[in-house]
Amino acid sequence: MRHFSAHFRLGLTRTQRVLLLIGLFLGVIQSCGDANQVEEHCEQSSEMPRGKEPEPKPMARMMRAMYQQGEQMRKQILAGEPISPEAFPLLNYHNQEPTDPSVLGSEFDQHHADFAKAWAELMEHPDTTHYNIMLQACVGCHQDHCPGPIKKIRKLSL
Ligand code: HEC
Repeated sequence: MRHFSAHFRLGLTRTQRVLLLIGLFLGVIQSCGDANQVEEHCEQSSEMPRGKEPEPKPMARMMRAMYQQGEQMRKQILAGEPISPEAFPLLNYHNQEPTDPSVLGSEFDQHHADFAKAWAELMEHPDTTHYNIMLQACVGCHQDHCPGPIKKIRKLSL
C-alpha cells in the first residue's frame, strides 16, 4: 500500500491522481456491490472456487484501472475523439505488489518495456492500428504471466 500511493505521486497531476483514484474506488464499489460479478483471475480454469474473494493486490487493482482506460480509449477512438497522454497516463502497475510474486523478473520487465513503448506510440498516433498494437502488448505479457483475462482483453480490439 505504501508503494501504491508513493508511485501515484510520481509524474501525475493532481487531477489525474484524483480521477484515477475515483476510478479505482468505483471499481472496488462495483466489485463489492455485485455479488455475481466475477473478476478475471490469472488461471484460465473456470473451476476456481468462487465466493470468498481475497482483497485484490495492488497490481490487480491497477490492472482493472488499465482495463478501464482501454475501454475508454476504445470509445473515444470509435467516436473520432482525440486521446492524449494527459487523459491516459501510463500507470505504474509494474512496481506494484502482484498476487503471485513469481511473475516478476526479467521476462516481465521486458514485456513491460514492450508495452510501455506500444503505449507511447499510441499516444503519438492515436488510431485504430496503434490501439490494437497496444492491446497486443497487453496480451503478450498475459500469455506468459496471466492467461485468464486474455479473452476479455482481446474483446477490446477494434
Ligand atoms: C508486463 C505484464 C503485463 C502487461 C503489459 C499487462 N498486464 Fe494485465 N496483468 C498482469 C499480471 C501479472 C496480472 C495479475 C495481477 C495480480 O493478480 O496481482 C494482470 C492482471 C490483469 C487483469 C485482471 C485483474 C483482476 O481483476 O484481478 C486484467 C483485466 C488485466 N490484467 C488487463 C490488462 C490490460 C487491459 C492490459 C493492457 C492495457 C494489461 N493487462 C497489460 C500482467 C500484465
